[in-house]
Amino acid sequence: MDFDSEFDAALDAAAPGRILRDVDAMARYSTDWTGRWTGSPRAVARPRTVEQVAAILAACTEHRVAVVAQGGNTGLVGGAVPPSGSIVLSTEALTATGPVRENGSVTVGAGVTLHDLERLAQENGMTAGLALASGASATVGGVAATNAGGARVLRYGTARDRISGVRAVLAHGDVIDRRSALRKDNTGYDLTDLVVGSEGTLAVITDVTWKLVAPHSDRVVLAMSFTDAQAATDALTTLLSLPGLDALEWAEGSAVERAAAQLDTTPPLPSDGFWVFAELGDSHVGGGSLVDVAEPVIESLSASGLSENRIAVAASAADRRTLWSFRERITESISAAGIPVKLDVGVPAAEFRAFVESLSSVVHAVEPSAIPVLFGHFAESNIHVNILPAEGTFPEPVAEALEDAVLEHVLSAGGTVSAEHGIGRVKTRWLNRQRGDVQVRAMDALKSAWDPNRILNPGVLFDDR
Ligand code: MLT
Ligand code: ZN
Repeated sequence: MDFDSEFDAALDAAAPGRILRDVDAMARYSTDWTGRWTGSPRAVARPRTVEQVAAILAACTEHRVAVVAQGGNTGLVGGAVPPSGSIVLSTEALTATGPVRENGSVTVGAGVTLHDLERLAQENGMTAGLALASGASATVGGVAATNAGGARVLRYGTARDRISGVRAVLAHGDVIDRRSALRKDNTGYDLTDLVVGSEGTLAVITDVTWKLVAPHSDRVVLAMSFTDAQAATDALTTLLSLPGLDALEWAEGSAVERAAAQLDTTPPLPSDGFWVFAELGDSHVGGGSLVDVAEPVIESLSASGLSENRIAVAASAADRRTLWSFRERITESISAAGIPVKLDVGVPAAEFRAFVESLSSVVHAVEPSAIPVLFGHFAESNIHVNILPAEGTFPEPVAEALEDAVLEHVLSAGGTVSAEHGIGRVKTRWLNRQRGDVQVRAMDALKSAWDPNRILNPGVLFDDR
């Protein structure tokens, strides 16, 4: 048997009946959600158990075959796109769920979607805390591997804040089990925190222990529209001090228009400038109606000139969902218009307005016909910079020139080239600029110790070319 056939046989033996090799069947694992990044795996493995994951990784190490762990394939930086000749290790069949413990934690398989985790939490009178627009497909394992954030980071933190343990398989097939139910366990390096956010480069996460949180019994969503970035930034800064604030988001009016078109409706407020979205929850307010809590802020914004037709308040669950949809459908609406350059940056709060206002001139200096669309998470000064071509897709050199121009601008503002989505394949050439040689060497030493043959997600995080 030649080396390739030996590997194929070892893979089949590792997870019998769970290997795909048909190109059509593998298509949905080969291209990422943005449509910009695509690869050609030699196989897709869909193990059902941690033992099968371990056997797959042992076979890959023995035969030096690259492995790309993949959850719901909703990443936006090419972090789960398989390079040619690699295998995709899909965690979609790892869906076992444990009981919700007395301390509010639950251990679930990496393939459980965020929506299913939320359903499980609600059945037990709790909530998962973290919420993403892509939650129907995004899996807990992917959320852990990328340290995902979303709209409620302000209240509940990123995935790292919600995860108290993982079980993960190392490149040789050894299993690290840190699914402990204990809230305190101060015994050495925190391997969970190391694996969370490592983008599949250190280990394959098979299970996650998640800290659920108590839900609110009442919530209210406010949306406001402002004619310019200065007024919106002033309002956002005022809103940040509201008690009970769970989420504080913003979007250019043009982005809201796109979401509205996707929803086949019209926005309830003018969309000539900026929209602001805020959500309040009662469990942090201490009695009283949430609308009453919001009232003084609304009054002060009205007193400074915000007219009534620029404020919407949603108290019922249906109205809240409707208002949020103008924010949550933005990503989908951008992708419906073409293949965007997607950058997910953060700048210091003091630089937020100037950065937002200067972005189109930075983009247009590279490509005058490009269409920037901005939105994001205000509390973390996180700006989702999406740049659409006038039509179709940017030629790759133009896309890279746009990335370089925006990210240079971010660094000169003292910001980060990735606030939320990670480095993936897209931003590897920026990791050294962001973190410096000493830190990248320290990360690389860990990578080499844990994955000496560099079979785990090569080309992601580090520039392995
Ligand atoms: C969001 O905040 O909606 C997501 O990060 C998705 C995106 O940036 O497109
Ligand atoms: Zn986001």
